[in-house]
Amino acid sequence: MCGIVGYAGKNEVVDFLLSGLYSLEYRGYDSAGIALVCDQGALEVVKRAGSVSHLDEAIKTLGLNACTGIGHTRWATHGEPSELNAHPHVNSDNTLALVHNGIIENHYVLREELEAKGYVFKTETDTEVIAFLLDQEYKKLGSTDMPQALINTCKQLKGAYAIAVCHVDYPHEIFAARNGSPLVCAQSNQGAYLASDMIALAKYVDELIVLDNGQFAHLKSDGSVRVFDSQINSLEHQTMQVDANNVPAASGEYPDFMLKEIYEQPEIARRIVDGHFKDGHIRLDGLNISDADIKDTDRIFIVACGSSYHASLIAKSYIESVARIPVEVAVASEFNYQDVLVSEHTLCIVVTQSGETADTLSAARKIKGLGAKVFAITNVIGSTAAREADGVLYTNAGPEVSVAATKTYFAQVLAMYLLALFLADKKEKLEPQDIVNAVSSLRKLPQAIEDILKDISSYEKCAEVCEGARSALFIGRGVNYPTASEGALKLKEISYLHAESYPAGEMKHGPIALLEPGFPVIVVIPQDQTRNKTLSNIEEIMARGAQVCALATEGDEQVKESANYTMFVPAIDTDLTPLVSIVPLQIFARKVAFDRGQNVDRPRNLAKSVTVE
Ligand code: F6R
Repeated sequence: MCGIVGYAGKNEVVDFLLSGLYSLEYRGYDSAGIALVCDQGALEVVKRAGSVSHLDEAIKTLGLNACTGIGHTRWATHGEPSELNAHPHVNSDNTLALVHNGIIENHYVLREELEAKGYVFKTETDTEVIAFLLDQEYKKLGSTDMPQALINTCKQLKGAYAIAVCHVDYPHEIFAARNGSPLVCAQSNQGAYLASDMIALAKYVDELIVLDNGQFAHLKSDGSVRVFDSQINSLEHQTMQVDANNVPAASGEYPDFMLKEIYEQPEIARRIVDGHFKDGHIRLDGLNISDADIKDTDRIFIVACGSSYHASLIAKSYIESVARIPVEVAVASEFNYQDVLVSEHTLCIVVTQSGETADTLSAARKIKGLGAKVFAITNVIGSTAAREADGVLYTNAGPEVSVAATKTYFAQVLAMYLLALFLADKKEKLEPQDIVNAVSSLRKLPQAIEDILKDISSYEKCAEVCEGARSALFIGRGVNYPTASEGALKLKEISYLHAESYPAGEMKHGPIALLEPGFPVIVVIPQDQTRNKTLSNIEEIMARGAQVCALATEGDEQVKESANYTMFVPAIDTDLTPLVSIVPLQIFARKVAFDRGQNVDRPRNLAKSVTVE
């Protein structure tokens, strides 16, 4: 959450800062700002509430010139989204400007201490504390040693941060620090760069320096970056190649990224299956897990948040049914406070499309601390989860721009189906022919989704069920209960219509009391062993005058006759039904949101990469 950029070099910095901020807007878009150290040695700060485009417009009218600067796009944690609370934050002399991504947990105490020393706070943010602390530490050192001042400041901070600083005393330099929130830098003959994410730098450099927790960086306009520790020792750079395939393209022929990403799903299915099936076996080489480790595994923990959590619940069904290993799935933010029982026979998996979710990373570190190995399933190459894990399974869905997860969720479910087959193969729970059969069913998946996407109007029409509604219920059973949960999450996050999910059988234990004429219930009812029981749920809902939108298998006329609306999906192997069922639910949520006039790609209050706990 929050995106930061910085540059010190030969070129004018404003265009880079704006283009970097536009590409980081997926991290937050409630306000944005830049600070420039101008040639005359003055600090210029421009901030605006709202998206980067507002800042862009404001800057155009000012005609500022500078070759050193930092920028920020914000997702508010402390203090309302406003121009005042937007970053960069400055000291009272207006000589120092600072941008921050993260949360300073001890900011109240530090604020009181600084106020007692005469510092006057203008904003409600935790970040202003860092600016004032740094001002204090810098002056204590006779205003001569910014690297040491930054170290001394960071020693007093508790919490997560990626910080970038510029100061009029260093008109051609930027200083940075990282603890918990991501930060990459880059050297080039045009200058030195920094950003929260590779995406912001991909147009400018081929290689990145990845800062680790506890590291600092000193960027100079000659293009150099010095990485150092809290003893001022220079450190070897840990580098990573920029992956051009992981830079988002424009939405092209599609009106929004969400629809574009929904339409990418058949191709992703082909890519994932082709990439991991060789010589009759599932190959997950990046996982880096030995056959002996798998044979020894008697329990699996999967930890994730949001959509990744829903995908993990489906993975539990897969792994338990084919590999016969008990699986526990935990929400990362809860897991971090649980007394978890992990042994050397436990395999731990963290699932995170961004690879940067703070709760999930904390869980991974906790598991490691307990002595277990951690494997990451992520979409982002070189992300923190990928770098810190013992092995990685990349979902290869390509960059996802729309904030609501669609294709990355789909790719996670599919990747974890392959993981289940892989574990079953290694544990000898499936015959070689079973794997071949499972893969030939999988090969039908892209066509099934293409059939859904050929004409989405029938799914969009079902959005009518939510007209005038204040709430919606999603129900499903077995492996499709998480599908219902994911459908409800998609709907609420982009349309702002309250939605919740229940296992269909739980209706009669409470939620049925919600039903009244017109109340929308979306029922996931594929042709599987649970279909008849779920059909009884439909009857019970209809008997109470509520409206049913059923998501059923093509040809199931009985369901169609029982429901007010029906979304048909092609028949497919039962295990794969979550992968086809989710697609109409994505289309449905998008249409409800669109009809309500919402920006489907940028829902309010959300960010694509949740880097605070
Ligand atoms: C919902 C959504 C979020 C994420 C959650 C975890 O559409 O995108 O619920 O799934 O914030 O994010 P990752 O997978 O990056 O850890």
